[in-house]
Amino acid sequence: MGESMKGMKRTHYCGEVTEKHLGETVTVMGWVNKRRHLSHLIFIMLRDRTGLVQTTCCENTAPDIYEAAKNVRGEYVLAIKGTVTARTAENINAELSTGKIEIDITELRVLSEAEVPPFQVTDTDVGMDLRLKHRYIDLRRTEMQNNLWVRHRVAQSARRFLSDDGFIEIETPVLFKSSPEGARDYLVASRVNPGSFYALVQSPQMMKQMLMVSGFDKYFQLAKCYRDEDLRADRQPEFTQIDIELSFADEEDIFALMERGMKKFCMDAIGREITVPFKRLPYREAMDRFGSDKPDMRFGLELKNLTEILRGCDFAAFSTAIENGGSVRGINAEGCADTPRKQIDAYVEIAKENKAKGLSWIVISSDGEIKTALSKFFNESKLNEIIQALDGKPGDLLFICSDKDETVFDALGALRCAVAKKRGLADENEFNFLWVTEMPLFEWSEEDGRFYAKHHPFTSPMEEDLPLPDSTEKRKAVRARAYDLVLNGYELGGGSIRIHRKEVQEIMFNALGFTAEDAQKAFGFFIDALQYGTPPHGGIALGLDRISMLFCGADSLREVIAFPKVKDASCPLSGAPSVVEQKQLDELGIKININREG
Ligand code: AMO
Repeated sequence: MGESMKGMKRTHYCGEVTEKHLGETVTVMGWVNKRRHLSHLIFIMLRDRTGLVQTTCCENTAPDIYEAAKNVRGEYVLAIKGTVTARTAENINAELSTGKIEIDITELRVLSEAEVPPFQVTDTDVGMDLRLKHRYIDLRRTEMQNNLWVRHRVAQSARRFLSDDGFIEIETPVLFKSSPEGARDYLVASRVNPGSFYALVQSPQMMKQMLMVSGFDKYFQLAKCYRDEDLRADRQPEFTQIDIELSFADEEDIFALMERGMKKFCMDAIGREITVPFKRLPYREAMDRFGSDKPDMRFGLELKNLTEILRGCDFAAFSTAIENGGSVRGINAEGCADTPRKQIDAYVEIAKENKAKGLSWIVISSDGEIKTALSKFFNESKLNEIIQALDGKPGDLLFICSDKDETVFDALGALRCAVAKKRGLADENEFNFLWVTEMPLFEWSEEDGRFYAKHHPFTSPMEEDLPLPDSTEKRKAVRARAYDLVLNGYELGGGSIRIHRKEVQEIMFNALGFTAEDAQKAFGFFIDALQYGTPPHGGIALGLDRISMLFCGADSLREVIAFPKVKDASCPLSGAPSVVEQKQLDELGIKININREG
């Protein structure tokens, strides 16, 4: 039920009515944020996407309206016409843009009634499950409204910036060919080709490269991408990239373009100035110093390599790791000697969650006393040597981890961030951008006994590192012309200069373990395209969701995606994914061979 809007036209948004409009007749439409009843007066706080405005009616002067207003409940949708009047001095609300006025209601229509909502829009302490199940209500909250506007402005800014720079936006298919590389594909069955599947695109990578072959030398797209990977706070199964590709461009062109771009996106979206150019750090140095390929540079806590001073030492955990080709590294949590034992244990757990077998620590109390289990294995002078190597001084807490490099980096990289978070070392208001360059070309998988492309198989190796060495160890060190854009410890974007010659692309597939036949089957259409005149080209894709998240100061992508998925990749709102009818499966020739009963 609800009345018609007929004859009423909205003249103002709620949040826009101010003292400038005193004496004017205005019509606002929106949701009832709150209704208050004070003896003969009723106040209705009306809300729309711009904010709140107080409207009021009095039993004595407008009995009909007063009667109607009595029945109004939270979240009803109203149209209110009235006269803008000044609030008395004691009723001014400095927190509202409309806080100096109220609207004296002359006409009130209930456009829509509402059931009692599962939570109050004004309630800030609502569980995530409930919020997402009734996301349409959750999105009424000012914070969510603002977040989606920030996201909109980033998207618009990107479109404007790139179009003005001579880029063309081209839409590419979402239904594409399944690829054996990269993350897991979401598959879509084809009814007209029973037994065959499309894959939802993980990114438009091959398509944007083929557009370079076609001569669209500056392409972009706000592209939806789909990846069946485990969800994290900064990872959703479907997300949006600002996807960019350029011909006849090198790394410097792409860095400069993106620095100008980010400066503009940031200004347009949140009105903030950022400093360019961004810092740069080769991958190797990022790992050595911060244990991460996306280091948060807002704080120090750098890793130090202790391998040489501990080689052959009596403590087996250290010496064995070194003998096996690993390393021993540490960080100095300066001034953290007062950390309670329970918290130190929690830090040890973080290292273990990152696959470290353990984590040693040394507390140097402010009077210089040293507390550590390592004193069982090292004499005083060796202990001092370790402490010195970590620049330890009274009041510091030192952590040491030994394992294969990868594990040490993961454990200390995570620990570094945990300590910084606990001690509030990172300035919440700082935007610290960084290019991580010279990324490795390959990533070795112990489990599969083969190399994968670290970025993707179309990324060009660095010429200095060619020809590809035969030994596995040396291959691990081959660098790619690939780069990531990092902000405060998050990977905002990644890209590379591509292979533009068919024979190099074939070498790459070969190195990834594809026979010529397999490569042809999986990527033949793409390898073929490269032989018809491919310009040198490169590009980047920025995560629109991640940029928006960081611009909003949020800590999860869920805060900037209208209808996000949750941990098991399901949609709490619709219940997707869901079982489908047998008829649909029959049409697709699909038989389900798992038992859903239990
Ligand atoms: P890449 O896989 O590095 O590169 O992705 C580029 C950027 O996309 C964002 N992103 C994600 N955001 C949310 N959820 C996810 N699951 C997710 N996965 C990636 C990140 C990331 O930096 N085709 C290449 C780009 C290129 O080489 O031009 C690509 O997709 O912000």
